[in-house]
Amino acid sequence: MRNVTADTITEAVLRTIADTTEPRLRQIMTSLISHLHAFAREVELTSDEWMAAMEFLARVGETTQTDRNEFILASDTLGVSALVDLLHNRASDGAATSSLLGPFYINGERMRSLEVGGDLIGDNEGEPVVVAGRVTTPQGAPIAGACLEIWQNAANGQYESEAPEHAPGNLRCKMFTDDQGRYRFTTIKPVAYTVPYDGPVGTMLQALGRHAWRPAHIHFRITAVGYRPLVTELFVADDAYIDADAVFGVREPLLVDFRRIESPQEAAAYGVTEGYALVTYDFGLQPVA
Ligand SMILES: [Fe+2]
Repeated sequence: MRNVTADTITEAVLRTIADTTEPRLRQIMTSLISHLHAFAREVELTSDEWMAAMEFLARVGETTQTDRNEFILASDTLGVSALVDLLHNRASDGAATSSLLGPFYINGERMRSLEVGGDLIGDNEGEPVVVAGRVTTPQGAPIAGACLEIWQNAANGQYESEAPEHAPGNLRCKMFTDDQGRYRFTTIKPVAYTVPYDGPVGTMLQALGRHAWRPAHIHFRITAVGYRPLVTELFVADDAYIDADAVFGVREPLLVDFRRIESPQEAAAYGVTEGYALVTYDFGLQPVA
């Protein structure tokens, strides 16, 4: 290997992993090494540019914390998260369309439990809305006891983990569907926001002349025994950024209207008073193959 050249280095590296016994790992690493080398050759990557990339990755690592994942944000803004989702989560008939997890998902204690019909608004300002629907099989049968994890931003555009003035767990909850597969909660209408650009990903977006805006949305992660987990988002259909999402997460079936509740009777049916908007959405889950 002492006579390795720019022409032979790729083969030399690939030979070192030829004995890898795990076939999928060998396939992935062979392809990754080959594409990385081809990329470096194609752009004739300089030492300074390589070092800038190493420093970028180091800063992405330093910026990543429990409640902010800069690696996911980098993946999101480069369209890799959307590509992986689109490759493997093709909605079949009756199953809901998936979308991105995003950098602000928190698994654990800050996801407080909420009963069906519970209130997420608390002392948040914003347009009140009731969100309701069912979790079902692809055939429309109710799935009782499905777990919905729900999170969204506040009127200032920030998630609770970004804004110290918010109470821990603000606008985040976990809810289990009732025996008819129903879920329902009151919240405020989410607002469009910029993904964090005070970190290395933001520096990259600015260097590329890109904006950081996402159209307003509510995040859902839905799990039930015997079904594939569903990660998705419901988007405000008339948002100004609906066709310019900085992380490429918008899918047509996930656009929802926030229509005004028109009568006391309709409000009562959803457990609220007049003055609320209404969003209804049913999530079909795919059975585990
Ligand atoms: Fe989000």
